[in-house]
Amino acid sequence: MIEQTLSTEAFRRDVLTGLGQTPKMLPCKYLYDEAGSELFDQICDLDEYYLTRTELAIMQEHAGSIAQQIDRDVMLVEYGSGSSVKTQILLDALVDPVAYVPVDISEEHLLRTAERLRSQYPKMEVLPVVADFTQPFALPQPASPYSHVALYFPGSTIGNFTQDQASHILRSMSRLLQRGSGLLIGIDLQKDVGAILRAYDDGQGVTARFSLNLLNRINQELEADFDLSRFEHSAVYNDRQHRVEISIVSRRDQVVTIGAEEISFAREEPILTEYSHKYTVDGFARLAEPHGFQMHRYWTDDAQQFALLHLVLGEEMQ
Ligand code: AVI
Repeated sequence: MIEQTLSTEAFRRDVLTGLGQTPKMLPCKYLYDEAGSELFDQICDLDEYYLTRTELAIMQEHAGSIAQQIDRDVMLVEYGSGSSVKTQILLDALVDPVAYVPVDISEEHLLRTAERLRSQYPKMEVLPVVADFTQPFALPQPASPYSHVALYFPGSTIGNFTQDQASHILRSMSRLLQRGSGLLIGIDLQKDVGAILRAYDDGQGVTARFSLNLLNRINQELEADFDLSRFEHSAVYNDRQHRVEISIVSRRDQVVTIGAEEISFAREEPILTEYSHKYTVDGFARLAEPHGFQMHRYWTDDAQQFALLHLVLGEEMQ
């Protein structure tokens, strides 16, 4: 296993830098510690959170043609593998996949998933990589020969990045692939704003717990004293940027200690924790095109809530 974990020092630096900015922000990658990953799994099961079940249904309905596009003897690399439920549908449909490389920041979650997949797919190598896929990382070398690498990036995780960051990720993906190889990517589509907002502020408060867990993590790992009852979750839709803006908002004027540092919060002051961009199929194709990706095929649900795009790397790489 390749291990490239984020150190506590990097976490401290990012937290203090982010909270020292105006407006305050915290990188969304830190939402996924062990507790955060479990809460995210619960979000995926919520009625309001249409994304997971819709993508799953698209996978189930079109697994055969998706696998055909990806082709046989592949080394399948998945970014942000989570609990890999959708992956199993794909792995079941693929012809003789040689290796599966889940890349994730949450080590325990990743290793548990890898263990399970190894016993389910004994003929396929499972080579987990603990890494932040926004940073350069090395792909492992499977023991058996493979014909090509295909990238799988489901779940609309690309939506959590700004367009500049998404562009950067697409460029680094294009460098991992050979010409003719594919990227299978899930994007959440633009739709009725009410339905989107319900998905990010559910009735049971699971999403709120997921957001606030980040403060808990800072308390535990960086000796901080956030009182979670003095903060609340907020999700707002930005129509111009086509994205949900998720923040943790201070309910009052207060001072929080992180190690030796004191951070002041004004009443109603937000800490931006996450964006969730919503795309159109054409808009995403335009974003990917400068990096050499050409739209090959896409699949969507009847209500056009979510889309799974298969982009193929052509010659016009930048
Ligand atoms: C992981 N990602 C695609 C989720 C989303 O829908 O943007 C993260 C999330 N945050 C709150 N709810 C879900």
